[in-house]
Amino acid sequence: PLVHGTELFQAARKGHYAIGAFNTNNLEWTRAILKGAQELGVPVLIQTSMGAAKYMGGYELCKQLIEATVKSMDITVPVVIHLDHGDFEAAKEAIAAGYNSVMFDGHDLPFDENVAKTKEIVALAHSKGISVEAEVGSIGGEEDGVVGEGELASVEEAKTLAATGIDFLAAGIGNIHGQYPANWKGLHFDRLQEIADAVDLPLVLHGGSGIPQDQVEKAISMGISKLNINTECQLAFAKATREYIEAGKDKQGKGYDPRKLLAPGTQAITDTFKEICGWMGTKQVK
Ligand code: G3H
Ligand code: ZN
Repeated sequence: PLVHGTELFQAARKGHYAIGAFNTNNLEWTRAILKGAQELGVPVLIQTSMGAAKYMGGYELCKQLIEATVKSMDITVPVVIHLDHGDFEAAKEAIAAGYNSVMFDGHDLPFDENVAKTKEIVALAHSKGISVEAEVGSIGGEEDGVVGEGELASVEEAKTLAATGIDFLAAGIGNIHGQYPANWKGLHFDRLQEIADAVDLPLVLHGGSGIPQDQVEKAISMGISKLNINTECQLAFAKATREYIEAGKDKQGKGYDPRKLLAPGTQAITDTFKEICGWMGTKQVK
């Protein structure tokens, strides 16, 4: 069933596990993620970036597609439909479209404005039971046009943003969107600990793809309750698709049935989902 995010992620923070937040791009991606969650018996958050929502035909369509897919696949694990890195307008649109949860990403605004706009989104979302994520500091790299400097989150700002009434907090702790550079220094665990001590909300780790398993597990033990993964599924999809074609499994280049061409990549997303969920200690619900 579809659920709002608040209680699900509070339980994760209390229970020292995380729930996977996976980006979707289309029907295949959505089915692949839901299949993985159902097979493992774990809750899942499916999110659309603003770019993916535009690609898929808008927030209404995204919400309806995910909702209908949950129904048609007889998915019994809890599913949250979430807006990833939304600006102010996108957050309002996703709320109006009936998303279960939204992220308002105000990292590029002056901090006071980030706080003020977050408060507005919280009031609007909470009037409908919808959960809200906000961001302090920033995530390095780029995701779907959202660019960050990787600014380390300040503990004071984390406390101020948490006090707006948000349900989960994303903090910049050295994490980066996309692939990590070879000279990456790792997560700032000292800062994560300070933020976790000061804020008892579920914390969100963006840029989850490519962080070594031991760092992911340590971050979860310290309060990370939502692990965002996008690039890892894209890499797996591209690799499996390329291998299928390069091995001539597409009738030596003569095959053109889209259902066959998309199948190996789709399975690779489910496999990736299951592998990463294995690191999160996510509590099974069935
Ligand atoms: O918001 C989405 C995530 O932060 C995805 O990051 O593409 O590095 O896994 P990633
Ligand atoms: Zn992100």
